[in-house]
Amino acid sequence: MLLKEIKHVFHKELDQRYGSDEVDHFFYHFIEHYLGLPKFHLALQPEWIITKEEEGVFFRGLSALKQGQPLQYVLGITSFMDLPIKVNNNVLIPRPETEELVRAIIEDYKDFSTALRVLDIGTGSGCIALSLSKYLPMAIVKGIDLSPGALKTARENARLNELDVEFVESDIRTMNLPEESYDIIVSNPPYVLDMEKSAMEEHVKEAEPSMALFVPDDTPLVFYKYIVSEARKALVKGGAIYLEINQRFGNEVSNLLEDHKFESIELSKDLYGRDRFVKAINTKKQNIKQK
Ligand SMILES: C[S@@+](CC[C@H](N)C(=O)[O-])C[C@H]1O[C@@H](n2cnc3c(N)ncnc32)[C@H](O)[C@@H]1O
Repeated sequence: MLLKEIKHVFHKELDQRYGSDEVDHFFYHFIEHYLGLPKFHLALQPEWIITKEEEGVFFRGLSALKQGQPLQYVLGITSFMDLPIKVNNNVLIPRPETEELVRAIIEDYKDFSTALRVLDIGTGSGCIALSLSKYLPMAIVKGIDLSPGALKTARENARLNELDVEFVESDIRTMNLPEESYDIIVSNPPYVLDMEKSAMEEHVKEAEPSMALFVPDDTPLVFYKYIVSEARKALVKGGAIYLEINQRFGNEVSNLLEDHKFESIELSKDLYGRDRFVKAINTKKQNIKQK
């Protein structure tokens, strides 16, 4: 079959759901990923023939896209901070906002020459942990998650990128971190409210793991409370916490950090102008206000 004929089938089957431009985008990714050819290949070689086997791969991918699977899950891979990151239904697809969080940490620590102990809480695919390990070579990075499937994927990603990051199964609610054991704690925990589900795209709700995304409406800060309280203990004096947050709760998360005597609390926005990140320093002052 000619490649251009398959492209035609993609448009016929998918345009109504995704729009023609998006379908072109999918198709070019398929060409790169499955055929190892540049995406403009079809323009140069309009009569390019693909094998029966390749045809099968394209049609299986088409069927997954028709069912609403995100492109990254269909290909099994995405890119985060220019690192290839394997993804599947056990892990959240890394978001561009999270790259901003990682860039901020790299910017703050790029000139450090001493060892930095870093903990990524709720590591998922390992995207944060691995990119910090890559771009802060003096960092000794550990990632924790409750999901065995996520941890398996994170370990595969460490091998894929030849990075030495330890991934350990642990529950945010019971993690009990050793005292003064980290210089940096970073987390992008579940923060989407159950009531926000209805506004989300179907494929996100259906394909991505619920445990990576949602928190009950009546306890939106549940994970932040555990993380901040543990970070207070586990960070060294002068150590920093970096959190990705739900845009609705910038003030609440900042107040939580203040209650735990963190200082230099900075709330910042993502590329869409929404409150998305909070950073703070652990000064180790006493008298934590109990709530
Ligand atoms: C929003 S995802 C973040 C994944 C990844 N760090 C990223 O930024 O793309 C939250 C992660 O927290 C994990 N998680 C959920 N509940 C947890 C718990 N109680 N203890 C540890 N990890 C948990 C999920 O499995 C998921 O991987």
